[in-house]
Amino acid sequence: MVIVTSLGNSEKIAKGIARKIKASYMDVKISTFPDGDRYLQFKKNVKGQNVIIVQSFQPNPQESMLNIIFAAEAIKQQGGKEVCLVAPYLSYMRQDKAFNPGECISSRVMAKLLNNSVDRIVTIDPHLHRYKSMKAIFTIPAVDLTANSLMGTYVKNKIKTPVIIGPDWESFQWAEEVAKIAECESTVFEKTRYSSRHVEEKMIKEVVMKGKHAVIIDDIISTGHTIAEAAKKAKSLGARTVTAICVHGLFVEGALEKLKKAGVSKIVSCNTISHKTNGIDVTSLLVSGLKKRK
Ligand code: R5P
Repeated sequence: MVIVTSLGNSEKIAKGIARKIKASYMDVKISTFPDGDRYLQFKKNVKGQNVIIVQSFQPNPQESMLNIIFAAEAIKQQGGKEVCLVAPYLSYMRQDKAFNPGECISSRVMAKLLNNSVDRIVTIDPHLHRYKSMKAIFTIPAVDLTANSLMGTYVKNKIKTPVIIGPDWESFQWAEEVAKIAECESTVFEKTRYSSRHVEEKMIKEVVMKGKHAVIIDDIISTGHTIAEAAKKAKSLGARTVTAICVHGLFVEGALEKLKKAGVSKIVSCNTISHKTNGIDVTSLLVSGLKKRK
C-alpha cells in the first residue's frame, strides 16, 4: 500500500500522482505551538506503508525543508516503511560552491539533511552544473528527470516558425534538445554575469532571427535578468516575438514586469512551482520517475 501526501506547496500534483498510481492521499496538519515550535500530525496510520511526500521547495524553501524533515521523521517514528520525496523543484542547487570566502555550500547541507531523513528522491532538472550527477551530493537513490520533452512538445504544438535560444552555455543543453523535439533551429547566447542583478548577452552560434518567433529556454527564471537581457538581444536581432519558457518559475523581485518591459510577450512555466504562468504539467513525468530506481 502506498500513501501520497504533500506539505503545503504541491497538493495538486500530489493528488494527481495519487490518482495515477492508484494510491490514497493523506492530509497532514502542520501548525505551530503557541511558542512557535512546529506541530505536525498525519491524518492516517502510516505503519508499514510506503509514503510519498510531494513537496516543491518553493515558495518558502526553509519552511519546506523543515516540513519535509519533520514529516519523514514522523513517518519513521510511526513505523512507516519507505519514505520517497518527490520534489518538483529542489532548492539550494545553485549554491554548489563557495563563490566567496566563508560562504556555506548550502546544496551540500540540503542533501545531507535529506540523506539522513528520506529513503529516495525524485526531482526535475535540479540545476546540475558543477555537480556531474546527483551522486555528487546524494547517498540515497536520487532520480533527476528533465522537462525537455514537455517543453519541446509545447513549442512544437503552440509556436509557429520558432527559433530556440539558450541564454547561456549551461542552458544550451536544454535549448538544443527542445529544438530537436520542436524541429527547429537553436542558438546560444553568451551570458556575462556582473552581479546577481546585472547580466549581458551576446549571440555565439549564428542563426537567422529576423521574422522568427524566438523562444528562450532556461531551467530557472529567478530575478528575470538573464531572460530579459536575452529577450532584448533577440528583439535587436529582428525576432518578431519573444516567448520565455522555463522549468522552474521563481519570479522574484518583479521578474514578470521586467520580462514584459524587455519585450517578452508570453511567459510559460512548468508547474514544478505553482504560479499563474504554469502552462506545462509535470505530473506524468514525476510518475515515470517514481518507477525508476537509481
Ligand atoms: C543559471 O545558471 C540558471 O540556469 C538561470 O539562468 C538563472 O538562475 C536565472 O536567474 P535570473 O532569472 O535571476 O537571471
